[in-house]
Amino acid sequence: MKVVISQIMENKSVSDGIFKLTAEFSGGMKPGQFFMLKTLDNSFLLPRPISVNDVGVKEVTFLYRAEGKGTSKLSSMKEGEELQLFGPLGNGFDMQELKGKIAVVGGGIGIAPLLYLTKQLSRNAHVYLGFKNCVYTVDEFEKYAGQVLIVTEDGSIGEKGFVTDYVDFSKYDAVVTCGPEIMMKKIITGCKEAGVKCYASLERRMACGMGVCLGCTVVTKNGNKRACKDGPVFMSEELI
Ligand SMILES: Cc1cc2nc3c(=O)[nH]c(=O)nc-3n(C[C@H](O)[C@H](O)[C@H](O)COP(=O)(O)OP(=O)(O)OC[C@H]3O[C@@H](n4cnc5c(N)ncnc54)[C@H](O)[C@@H]3O)c2cc1C
Ligand code: FES
Repeated sequence: MKVVISQIMENKSVSDGIFKLTAEFSGGMKPGQFFMLKTLDNSFLLPRPISVNDVGVKEVTFLYRAEGKGTSKLSSMKEGEELQLFGPLGNGFDMQELKGKIAVVGGGIGIAPLLYLTKQLSRNAHVYLGFKNCVYTVDEFEKYAGQVLIVTEDGSIGEKGFVTDYVDFSKYDAVVTCGPEIMMKKIITGCKEAGVKCYASLERRMACGMGVCLGCTVVTKNGNKRACKDGPVFMSEELI
């Protein structure tokens, strides 16, 4: 991990309130890892944790929802401006464990860390993406995955309902999920019933991002863990 001042190469809106920011960064990283992003004008005190969405030779891309003060400020930044990147952080997905056919299930902005994972799993990934009504960056998954299913709550695009209703867990060697907690709970239950391994990427409020402040505690069957350092990816069996 390192702290760098990085120049923004692109920062554009891809859907209502959803932005994609590409910034200069050289160095390796794993799918599921994240960076702490901070502007240089100190307009917000704590950096914001944002997942690696995609990686290029000399750049990293983030997909984020402009929601509160920090992410709204990020969304206003322009090409050529600088921001601070601290990372890559967290454990990321263990690619050795993800062999065979893998279901990749994302909900809303929770799809962000799943693109780089899908790229690495390639045709072994069957991707299920759930949205309320607006869909975004689906075409990027279609380039790499063996199959992609889109589900919207109102049925305006793709299938209608909840993405969790469309996954046959028993077909897979493992399932990976990131999204709203209620969605991940349903996925974890479905995997348990089908006897399939499941990995969930959790979201917690984070201040330091490197295991020091203990602000991101996750209570597990093996004691308290830090989402930023021991996670954000956890085996579902470990979670309470
Ligand atoms: C490991 C990890 C990866 C993430 N990846 C993405 C991503 O790829 N795209 C994306 O859109 N969002 C992602 N998030 C969520 C994102 O970090 C929060 O939405 C963001 O921090 C909220 O900041 P804000 O400025 O919009 O809100 P504000 O309300 O201004 O934030 C206020 C304070 O609360 C903290 N905070 C508020 N909500 C959260 C939250 N859900 N998680 C952590 N801290 C929070 C902020 O750090 C800040 O200190 C991720 C979170 C984690 C933990
Ligand atoms: S954010 Fe400080 S310990 Fe995880």
